Formats: sequence, C-alpha cells, structure tokens
Amino acid sequence: MKDKVVLVTGGASGIGLASAEALAASGARVVCADLQQSQDLPQGCEFRRLDVSSEKLTEELVSDVIERYGQIDGLVTSAGISRVGDLEHMSLQDWEQVLQVNLTGTMLSARAVAGPMKRRGQGSIVTIASINGMLGNPNNLAYCTSKGAVIQMVRSLAAELGPSGVRVNSISPGYIHTPMTTMLDELPVGQAFASMHLLKRAGRPQEVGNAVAFLLSDISSFITGVNLPVDGGFSAAKVIAI
Ligand SMILES: NC(=O)c1ccc[n+]([C@@H]2O[C@H](COP(=O)([O-])OP(=O)(O)OC[C@H]3O[C@@H](n4cnc5c(N)ncnc54)[C@H](O)[C@@H]3O)[C@@H](O)[C@H]2O)c1
Repeated sequence: MKDKVVLVTGGASGIGLASAEALAASGARVVCADLQQSQDLPQGCEFRRLDVSSEKLTEELVSDVIERYGQIDGLVTSAGISRVGDLEHMSLQDWEQVLQVNLTGTMLSARAVAGPMKRRGQGSIVTIASINGMLGNPNNLAYCTSKGAVIQMVRSLAAELGPSGVRVNSISPGYIHTPMTTMLDELPVGQAFASMHLLKRAGRPQEVGNAVAFLLSDISSFITGVNLPVDGGFSAAKVIAI
C-alpha cells in the first residue's frame, strides 16, 4: 500500500481505526473521517470531521483529499450505527437514521470517490457490512436491513465499476469487540453470541483491519463483488451436539 491514499469513514474507532492502522502500517497515507475525533490516531493517519449522511460534506471532503494528496486509491466505509428494535417497537426515526448512515452514507462515500477512481482506471472500495446483513435477526430490523442492502449494493457497484478497473467488495464481520458492542460484552448474551462463532470467541478489530488491508491492496487484484465474512466461522455452520 506504499504511498496509496485511502479514505476511511468511521476511522476514529473500532474496525475503522484498526483498518486505518493496518493500512498505515503497510505504507498508505490514510484520512480517517468521522463524527468524533480519535484520541490516538496512528502515524500516517490524518483526522477529518465528517457526517457520512451529508452528500455535500462527503463530496467536499473527497475533493479536499484529492487536492491535498493528488489522488485517491482506496475507500473503506466503516461508519455505522445500530439501534436495537423489532418491527413493532422500532421508531420510524431509528429506522431512518440507521438507513441514512449505514446505507445512504455508504452510497454517498462510494459515489464521491467513484468518478476520480474511474478517471484513473483504478481503485478499491471496501464496505463494512455484517453477518447481520447475511442472516435474519428478530430484534435488529433496521440494522439488518441496512447491512443486507449494503452487500447487494456492493455487487451492483462491482458490476458498474469493474469495466473501469475499480474493485468493490464488502466484509461481513461477526461479533467484534469494539465500542459498538461494549454493552453486549458485559451481558450473558454476549458470551452466548461469542460461543456461536466456530472459533468460540469474539473477534478483535485488528482481525477485520487485516482483511480490509488485503482487499484494498493489489494482492487481491482479481477479487471484486465479493462479500467476505470475517466472523470466526459464524456464518459457515450451525453446530449442534449429536
Ligand atoms: N463490532 C461488531 O461486532 C460489528 C459487527 C459487524 C459489523 N460491524 C460494523 O462495523 C462498522 C464499524 O463498527 P465498530 O464496531 O467499529 O463501531 P464503532 O462505534 O467503534 O465505530 C463506528 C464509528 O462510526 C462513526 N460514525 C457513526 N455515525 C457516523 C456518521 N454519520 N458519520 C461519520 N462517522 C460516523 C462513529 O463515530 C464511530 O467512530 C459499522 O458499520 C458496524 O455496523 C460491527
């Protein structure tokens, strides 16, 4: 990734921050865009404030990055929120907010970088989806819907941008210890969830960050349109004792 320029949304925390770390460690220049500032961004990373649900701010940020660094080679969309709630109890406001950030925000970021990447005939986009976008979940309707839509959007974008040399893939993490899951970590349900992963534990943000770096780099140059679970085997099997 030496000298590649990568924008990471949600780059101030959790999976986004770990992705920025992995990318910077492999030589990339990384812009971490987030609502909140990170206390400890790694060397090689610059912080920029961004609300990914704003088309105007996203377009302006991408223009700034290109002006400052001369190019944009990669995009990681990790900005995301979760609001627990089922069909009956979820508020319309929660539904709209989750879709606005997780789905529309991902589309807006991809749209902002797609033009410049197409003109250069190269680029790699990695979106952070979720195992909750691959499987149903009775109490997380907005989040599951947003992540399922992101996985499908990635396939469509891969088809649209592939002829221009731009690759688009998603990663679906399992249960990863981050600030988003702090509540879960402390509850018995968190342990039960962790034990549903074939490796019998939750993952670390760095384990997702490494997969992000792989999909962004030229090592994965013939991979596009893929949804890669990084989930300790959660989505691979349903294990029952016989
Ligand atoms: N942690 C998990 O178990 C897990 C599992 C599957 C998928 N994911 C996904 O991974 C991504 C990262 O989550 P995380 O676990 O690192 O959580 P996190 O809360 O640590 O990080 C999410 C970041 O997104 C930022 N953000 C939220 N709304 C934003 C907005 N409108 N504009 C810009 N930034 C915004 C937050 O400020 C935060 O820094 C999310 O998309 C999440 O849905 C997480």
